[in-house]
Amino acid sequence: MDAGNLLNLKNQALAVISEAETKKELSELKVKFLGRKGEVNQLLKNLSDLDPDQKAQTGRLLNEAKTAITQALRQKTLKLSPAPRDWLDVTAPGKTFPSGHLHPITQAIEEVSRIFERLGFTRVRYPEVDWDWYVFEALNMPEDHPARDEWETIFIDAEENKKMGKMVLTTHTSNGQVREMERAGKTLPGKTPIRMLNIGKCYRRQQDRTHTVMFHQFEGLVVDRHIGIPDLKGTLNHFAREFYGPKARSRIRPFNFRFTEPSFEVDFSCVHCLGRGCRFCKSGWHEVGGAGLVHPNVLKAGGLNPKVYSGFAFGWGIERCYTLKPGLNLDDIRLLYSSNLEFLNQF
Ligand code: DAH
Repeated sequence: MDAGNLLNLKNQALAVISEAETKKELSELKVKFLGRKGEVNQLLKNLSDLDPDQKAQTGRLLNEAKTAITQALRQKTLKLSPAPRDWLDVTAPGKTFPSGHLHPITQAIEEVSRIFERLGFTRVRYPEVDWDWYVFEALNMPEDHPARDEWETIFIDAEENKKMGKMVLTTHTSNGQVREMERAGKTLPGKTPIRMLNIGKCYRRQQDRTHTVMFHQFEGLVVDRHIGIPDLKGTLNHFAREFYGPKARSRIRPFNFRFTEPSFEVDFSCVHCLGRGCRFCKSGWHEVGGAGLVHPNVLKAGGLNPKVYSGFAFGWGIERCYTLKPGLNLDDIRLLYSSNLEFLNQF
């Protein structure tokens, strides 16, 4: 073995390493040249046959070749590895994360709450699953009374309570009336007034363009001494102006509800024609819900003396009154609960 042979080996190794195209090829080359039985080691074995001078020189050359091959392998391996990514590119445009917003009905609920809070109403919540007593019986609708048919009730498959009757999904937020009178009687005995705003989910067996099985209502209840119809009218007009704009008005028409006497239907003037009549409303008005002076039997059911106290109540659907707002021609309210982001993102 002479220095020429060694040089050949080194150059041959460097050439094939530089031409390798995969890491697999590189590891095969590593075994071929530097492995235990590789070419470099084969040459090393022959070192003992040489005389001491030659031995030292060839040993040095062999070591150089080994180092050169090792380095070439390392560099080529790096070249074949994917380039590490820049960890920070200060010129890259910023990423914006999609931000959500409250559901339009939640926004409407907040708006309705603010309007009544300014009049001194306190927002409360009563059960969504309630006893027949609070939903019907205590509201002057005894069992089997035909008025109950108006509320397409969904019953819960649960044991009946002797006093409270069956369990139902609340069909209206009026279930909060007697519950609120009981609460006021317990926490502030003899200190009624009540100014309640009960907002909650209601359920009825009805689903079409203008109804969803689950919907929201809000119920106002004011009980005090000397409460009368002018208080009710003032409250309704205040809501109309705040919710629909300064020119909006309300009107009440005689109607019949079992839990109020007298009872009314409540209309708001159309936001498009302000009551004159147009293609959208026909008559100039939109009916939204009911109201009236609390029936003496309901006051009694809530533990209040009708000779001392009187009150008014009103209630209607959030979805209904929200979709009458200016610019919101929604002819199918089921869209509100469709989880369709293209629709919801507009609000
Ligand atoms: N609870 C009635 C309904 O769901 C609406 C209503 C009518 C509420 C008259 C009232 C009221 O408070 O006084 O149709």
